[in-house]
Amino acid sequence: MNYQLTLPMKQTTDVYQLLTINLLTQMPIIAPSLLASNFFNLETECKMLNESSADWYHLDIMDGRFVPNISYGPMLVEVFRKATNKICDVHLMIEEPGNYAEAFKKAGADILSVHIEACPHLHRNIQQIKGLGMQAGVAVNPHTPVDALKDILADIDMVCLMSVNPGFGGQSFIPHTLLKIKQLREMIDERSLHVKIEVDGGVTLENAKTIIDAGADVLVAGSTVFKAADPIAMIAALKNM
Ligand code: DX5
Ligand code: ZN
Repeated sequence: MNYQLTLPMKQTTDVYQLLTINLLTQMPIIAPSLLASNFFNLETECKMLNESSADWYHLDIMDGRFVPNISYGPMLVEVFRKATNKICDVHLMIEEPGNYAEAFKKAGADILSVHIEACPHLHRNIQQIKGLGMQAGVAVNPHTPVDALKDILADIDMVCLMSVNPGFGGQSFIPHTLLKIKQLREMIDERSLHVKIEVDGGVTLENAKTIIDAGADVLVAGSTVFKAADPIAMIAALKNM
C-alpha cells in the first residue's frame, strides 16, 4: 500500500490557538478516530476530514500487549501529519510509552496521551511529553477511578476517559462513564484547572448530548463518523449538539 498522500500540507500547527478557539465557542471538540476509516482510501478520508468541522485527528496506537490488538505506529502518524493542519491527538495504548514519546513527537503528534495503567512512573512520562513540546494527556480504562488522577491533574492538559475497553472500535458506550465524567468535571473545576475531558469509545448521535452535558470537552468518534452515510454532516451534527 502506498501511504504517500498528496494533500496540501502546512509546516506548523498552532495548537494553543486552535484549542483556545474551541474553548471560546463553547462547542465540543470533535476528534474522529481514524481507526474506523477506510485504510484503502486514506487520501479521500483525510480530504473529507479536512473539509469537515472536525477539530482533531484522533490516532489510536495499539501494541498487542497493553491491548489485545495491533494498529499502527509513528510511520502512519507522520502520513496523517502531512495530510492535515488539524491537531494530531495521539492515544498510546502501549506498554512502556516513554520509549516511544520522541518518535511520536518526530512523527508530528501535538497531544500525546499515555495510559495510567501502563505507567508506574506517570509523572516522569508526563514531564517527558511536555519536555518534548507536546500537550500531555492521561487515558484511564473503564475500571480505573478518576480519583487516581488527583495527584497528576495539575500537571496535564487532558484526561482521556475510556468509555469502552480499549483495543477495538465499534463497541458500546459503558453508561458508568457518565458518572466518571461528572466526578472529573468537579475535580477540575473546584481547582480551577484547565484540563480537557476527552471521552473515547461508543460515542453516537444519541448519547453525545448527555456526554457533553455531563462535562466532556472532546468527543472521539470512530464508527459513528466513518460508517455514516454522510460523515461531514455527522461531524457537524456532533459539533452542534
Ligand atoms: C478504542 C480506541 C477508540 C476507538 C473509538 O480502543 O481508543 O478511539 O477508535 O471507536 P468508536 O467510536 O467506534 O467506539
Ligand atoms: Zn482512542
